[in-house]
Amino acid sequence: MRGIILSGGQGTRLRPLTNITSKQLLPVYNRPMIYYPLNTLLKAGIKEILIIVAPERAGDYSNLLGSGKEIGAKLTYEIQDEPRGLADAFIIGENFIDRENVAMILGDNIFEDDFTAEIKNFKKGGKIFARQVPDPERFGVVEFSGSQAKRIIEKPKRFVSDYAVTGLYLYDYRVVEAAKSLKPSARGELEITDINNWYLEKGELEVAKVKGAWLDAGTFDSLLEAQNFAKEKLAGKMVI
Ligand code: DAU
Repeated sequence: MRGIILSGGQGTRLRPLTNITSKQLLPVYNRPMIYYPLNTLLKAGIKEILIIVAPERAGDYSNLLGSGKEIGAKLTYEIQDEPRGLADAFIIGENFIDRENVAMILGDNIFEDDFTAEIKNFKKGGKIFARQVPDPERFGVVEFSGSQAKRIIEKPKRFVSDYAVTGLYLYDYRVVEAAKSLKPSARGELEITDINNWYLEKGELEVAKVKGAWLDAGTFDSLLEAQNFAKEKLAGKMVI
């Protein structure tokens, strides 16, 4: 299994903090934010990791993490010129993925759960992780028919369920083909939700539930929450 950390974008909601660096390098308690998703991958045994970054921030990442040798990983970097959407990561990462399975994690997502078993046992198709949230309209949401996932809907205007799709995704190498087949959505992005529906329509998407805390540290309030959570619950469990 290879890993991708998607760490581009402009971080506009966190200006002026993001005027000087990337959102995913801002401090979350005693570490840069990206250490948390990096930790999730490393803990699960993923050592070959591609980090996708915005052009103006690439130097910051290589200064911080370099080749990855010090942390026992092989890190490579690719630049995403424009924030074309989450699914663009699989087009940028085509050569890196090759014929392997891939775990993609968002650079601003912080998980309490350990995904080692889920990642080790993943064979083919797609697998996503849903978490109950009070504000599902902010996320991709799983519509269920009984216990069966029926459809994934990106930021539904009307209530479908309170299970949000979190920012960790496991796919086989066909994700590259799926990403290349997508058309940009109304907001002009290649949507990860469309990738999930691509697998779902083939009966090959598994939806697991996340039990522990999950934070997307992309706003001032969630960043503050993440800082406190990292201090109280995560600081002692990090491998980097
Ligand atoms: O956090 C989970 C949610 O992430 C999912 O529930 C949604 O289905 C998914 O679409 C996404 O929602 P957002 O629209 O809130 O994602 P956002 O645009 O905030 O991007 C997530 C991260 O990915 C962010 O840290 C910046 C980075 N990014 C985003 C885009 C669009 C990139 O590196 N490149 C991009 O092109």
